[in-house]
Amino acid sequence: MTATRSVTFTGLGFVNPFLLSSAPPTESESNILRAFDAGWAGVVTKTIGLHPVVNVVGAKAKFMRTTPEDAYVSMKKRPGAALHSSWNWELISDKTLDWWLPRIRRIKQAFPDRVLIASIMAGSGNDKELQNWQRLARDCQDAGADGLELNFSCPHMDRRDMGSNIGKDQGLCSVVTEAVKEVATVPVWCKLTPATAEIEVEAAACFRGGADAIVSSNTFPSIPLIDPDTLEFEINVDGLVSSGGLGGPAILPLSLAKMAQMTQALPDKSFSGIGGISDFPQALSYILLGCGTVQVCTAAMLDQAVGPNVIKRLLAGLDAFLERHAADGWTGVESFRGLRRDRIVAQSAIRRPDAAGYHSGFEVAEGYAPQTSSPS
Ligand SMILES: Cc1cc2nc3c(=O)[nH]c(=O)nc-3n(C[C@H](O)[C@H](O)[C@H](O)COP(=O)(O)O)c2cc1C
Repeated sequence: MTATRSVTFTGLGFVNPFLLSSAPPTESESNILRAFDAGWAGVVTKTIGLHPVVNVVGAKAKFMRTTPEDAYVSMKKRPGAALHSSWNWELISDKTLDWWLPRIRRIKQAFPDRVLIASIMAGSGNDKELQNWQRLARDCQDAGADGLELNFSCPHMDRRDMGSNIGKDQGLCSVVTEAVKEVATVPVWCKLTPATAEIEVEAAACFRGGADAIVSSNTFPSIPLIDPDTLEFEINVDGLVSSGGLGGPAILPLSLAKMAQMTQALPDKSFSGIGGISDFPQALSYILLGCGTVQVCTAAMLDQAVGPNVIKRLLAGLDAFLERHAADGWTGVESFRGLRRDRIVAQSAIRRPDAAGYHSGFEVAEGYAPQTSSPS
């Protein structure tokens, strides 16, 4: 059998497993058209809401870099510095739903074989807000969106009933998902915040509400560094800063850990991985943990805004990987998806030079059985 790049995820056909995530690369019609031209199989639009959006004065996103000599992480540009992360405090799209709808329609007409997911966000404090979710869902799907991504993950919302504040509350995750599923005729994905202890709990709550997939991670809550000379935050407005979101290479291992928590707890469910992907090896880690698609933001922002070189590298990497494993009978992503999911185990299950001497950190109390948590 010949190998294929294409995947089916939550019932939708993708020409490859690589998407642009909801962020500046997908904030306009021209960007999304350029992204599809470049080869991305799908995009998730910049999050669309109904409440007024006004961003802070000045830069909404910056990049942190580090140098091999001193490992100093800073937004200051230095020769020879390598990317460490992105940092942003950008809100959701400042364009209205009415601005988005004709654009969704036109994009789908231009690229019927590519997948357009509308990212949406409303509140959760009352019935009117649940109706706002339903209105956003209905209008976007009627305009031609192939799916919906519910933003339960934006880390810098002032409102207690929005963004990551929903993703931190399993009750709200279920209620909002269920409200959207009541009207949805297309697949519904929930994008969760990584800022919870047991993300599999919120993931399970979304699935109970009827979600078709979980997407993770959004950016991690973080603040910029303080400049040692000026004693000012490297991003500030009038000397003030608030918590924002970290993305890019720095969050890759953190995001993988979150993803593993979910794919292990819910191995039969669908997951889309995001965080620190700029090339095939990082995408591969997410797929080996069980993800059916992956999404990219920071790397694309730094590559002509929509990542033409990033998608080229991802596709070349996937092709070469499938070719390398042709003799194993691997014909596509499904052949290796989840293959390393079960390799993450308790410390006590990791081999020791002297197994008899290890008691999982517990003292061996004389007369009592040692308290180990070895798998049965
Ligand atoms: C400037 C900026 C704006 C973003 N806006 C959104 C957004 O509107 N909705 C959303 O779900 N995620 C948003 N994100 C999060 C990204 O989609 C992505 O989850 C995150 O950056 C991690 O991926 P990365 O490591 O590839 O950057 C934004 C990220 C950045 C850097």
